[in-house]
Amino acid sequence: MMHLVLAEAEVELVPASISSHPAVRAHARRRGKKATEQLLDSSFHHSAMRKLPEAERRGRPDILHQCLLLALDSPLNRQGLLRVYVHTRNDEVIHVDPSTRIPRSYHRFVGLMEDLFKRKSIPPEKPLLRLEKKNLAKLLGDLSSDRTIIFIEEGHPTKWRDLFKQETVTVVVGCFPHGDFHFSWRELNCEPVCVDPEPLDASTIVARAIYAFEDSIGLWEKRFER
Ligand SMILES: C[S@@+](CC[C@H](N)C(=O)[O-])C[C@H]1O[C@@H](n2cnc3c(N)ncnc32)[C@H](O)[C@@H]1O
Repeated sequence: MMHLVLAEAEVELVPASISSHPAVRAHARRRGKKATEQLLDSSFHHSAMRKLPEAERRGRPDILHQCLLLALDSPLNRQGLLRVYVHTRNDEVIHVDPSTRIPRSYHRFVGLMEDLFKRKSIPPEKPLLRLEKKNLAKLLGDLSSDRTIIFIEEGHPTKWRDLFKQETVTVVVGCFPHGDFHFSWRELNCEPVCVDPEPLDASTIVARAIYAFEDSIGLWEKRFER
């Protein structure tokens, strides 16, 4: 089993401090939403975001969208051996049911996330997505794994084929465009791993980590019963 944690994902509602900016209000009006009920999106709110701290890495739901599509369509997930958790910059955790079908259209995905921030679980009766307040240390502590690996450029250089053994593993990937993790991963019992001399996109790390894990447990053979 792999627990995949998409950490410090840059998904948040428009902060109140920029909700009256003309670019934010115009976008909200076009979408028929209140300004603060919209997801912050650097493509649309760029000029308003200049006032925000860490503006250069915020408002990137597109990174999360790509990672979720890749993870949930993987053979590992289809085999019931993947659990996905999204941890956000504001210390919320989204529990993703393996049967969730994430909309392929980015605009529909944004609408779904906005609904989730409002209602906290979707659909309410038997939630596929559930949002709760929780920090990363608490989430990692709650997951029962043999190992926790954090993908990070300053980690130990490791070949993909040497990374996984047959085990239950938690894998942490930063779901943000630039910079380092905010949380102090050195204080937790994590193995820091670097897989390339260059920074790669979060989606590339997610796709390769899932494939490397599938390979390590012989998933191809299991699925073809060989
Ligand atoms: C796009 S990176 C973001 C940070 C990166 N410093 C940058 O400037 O682009 C997103 C995440 O992918 C993972 N990652 C990217 N490149 C990596 C590498 N070479 N080795 C290990 N993890 C990597 C890390 O978890 C990182 O937080």
